[in-house]
Amino acid sequence: MIVSPKIIKLKNGREAYVRSPALSEISLIYSFISRIYDESEYMLRTPEEVKRYTVDAGRKALEIINSSPCDCLLMCLIGDEPVGMCKVSYGHLVKIRHRGTISIGVRREYWGQGIGRKLMELQIALAKELSGPLQLELDYIDGNERAGNLYRSLGFTVTGRKPNAVRQPDGRLLDEYSMVLKLR
Ligand SMILES: CC(C)(COP(=O)(O)OP(=O)(O)OC[C@H]1O[C@@H](n2cnc3c(N)ncnc32)[C@H](O)[C@@H]1OP(=O)(O)O)[C@@H](O)C(=O)NCCC(=O)NCCS
Repeated sequence: MIVSPKIIKLKNGREAYVRSPALSEISLIYSFISRIYDESEYMLRTPEEVKRYTVDAGRKALEIINSSPCDCLLMCLIGDEPVGMCKVSYGHLVKIRHRGTISIGVRREYWGQGIGRKLMELQIALAKELSGPLQLELDYIDGNERAGNLYRSLGFTVTGRKPNAVRQPDGRLLDEYSMVLKLR
């Protein structure tokens, strides 16, 4: 789905734009995604796995996301530079259409400026405007305190902990938490 553009105010008083990404911006988006996977060990893919995607495949995926009623991708820009993204995907199957899976990433140099919170709040507000969704769901890796604090402060509650869900490239086994936010 396509979302109308919004201006948000960051903690430092600067303004940023939040909107759906355009197909013409695919190269910018591609380098944004490569960077956030380089900058955090708490994403599920390794940077090498992400770099295997092609720009062409990304363009096709974005076309599907923007035209699907089941996907909502928001991009936050400062000037022309993408600095954050947040995506919700609702279930395609009748029995799980009421559930949305939410994911988020912000460029490290912009952490702590309120971008993550604003993107999550916008997605939650958009989900509440739709008649179908009843809950948003996510998983986060043990140790990702910044993400965990953000999610808890927005009202997400832990519904489970999967032991040894993730094995980091250096061999460390980490648990993963599942969280749910009830929308209504
Ligand atoms: C998690 C992430 C999205 C947060 O984005 P952000 O723009 O830094 O978030 P905000 O500035 O809005 O801060 C949100 C909350 O994080 C928490 N937080 C901020 N700094 C923190 C720190 N140093 N330690 C622990 N928690 C912290 C606070 O609860 C803060 O809320 P506040 O509004 O009361 O300050 C971002 O750090 C990120 O992209 N990390 C790498 C990718 C990732 O982990 N994605 C999520 C995978 S599940």
